[in-house]
Amino acid sequence: MQCLTIFNMIKHRTIYLALIICIMSFLYAITGKTEIDPKIQASLKKISTESKKIIEECAACHGLDGNSSMRDTPDLAGQHIDYIIKQLQDIQQSSDPKMPNNRTRKIPVMTGMLNNVNKSNMIEIAHYYANQTQSKRRVSGSKSLAKLGEAIYMGGNTTNNRPPCSGCHGFYGLGLSKMPRLQGLDKQYIIKQLYDFQKNMRTNDITKAMPAIAKKLTPQEIEAVSDYIQGIQNPNKIDQATIISNTLK
Ligand code: HEC
Ligand code: HEC
Repeated sequence: MQCLTIFNMIKHRTIYLALIICIMSFLYAITGKTEIDPKIQASLKKISTESKKIIEECAACHGLDGNSSMRDTPDLAGQHIDYIIKQLQDIQQSSDPKMPNNRTRKIPVMTGMLNNVNKSNMIEIAHYYANQTQSKRRVSGSKSLAKLGEAIYMGGNTTNNRPPCSGCHGFYGLGLSKMPRLQGLDKQYIIKQLYDFQKNMRTNDITKAMPAIAKKLTPQEIEAVSDYIQGIQNPNKIDQATIISNTLK
């Protein structure tokens, strides 16, 4: 009889536990959904279910709104449509051994992720990210390298024929079309790209400008200019993403 009571208690306990877990996961599921910013939800509604599904996979690293929380993973929010499409094509083509080096960008962690993504999805995805706002406000951390960073970015180097970065990426790093926006990117990501260009690990700049320029930078200069770029602020407070979405409508 006692055994039966204990058995019943255990049985009930398990049911209670199961019920609590069930309620908790239900609450988690609904609160998880309502946490998405309404603005992001609205822009996700504008695109096909197929592209939306892809974006949700990308969110693991790039953030749902293209604001990444990992230092070596670039923000895609506010990046240019043409640049994003080009990178997606280059990354996708890296799994095709017949493609020439200057048309491929190898990103091991993204292997296979774009295999079934077609051009129209790419265009939608690129529009989606370009219209998101970069939410992080990063600052330059190095006072000692600040002058050097600014000199490299704005002035270049006439002795070794190195053009200023601002010549192509713009005074405020806003870029244009296939010229990437650099403003606000994480220093660690920029440093990695400059070394990748320098060491021919990133080969997809068809203009060949970036590998040539990166080869003319010393490790200290790479550190300084990356720190400078991370902290570029846009004094005119023009939101690039707004400009893009306005011109497209
Ligand atoms: C596992 C993490 C991860 C996932 C998932 C992922 N990415 Fe990436 N992505 C990265 C990293 C890391 C880089 C930068 C690699 C490097 O150092 O060059 C990158 C680079 C990119 C770039 C180039 C950006 C630039 O500024 O040059 C684009 C565009 C991009 N990813 C889009 C996507 C899309 C679209 C998806 C979903 C289909 C996706 N990524 C999924 C980690 C990821
Ligand atoms: C002659 C034009 C030109 C100049 C000058 C130039 N860049 Fe670039 N940069 C490019 C182009 C074009 C790309 C995109 C390459 C591609 O298609 O992948 C690029 C890409 C980059 C990227 C990768 C961005 C990303 O999101 O992955 C970084 C970082 C960068 N440049 C930094 C610099 C720095 C720092 C300087 C100055 C020392 C500089 N660039 C000068 C043309 C230029």
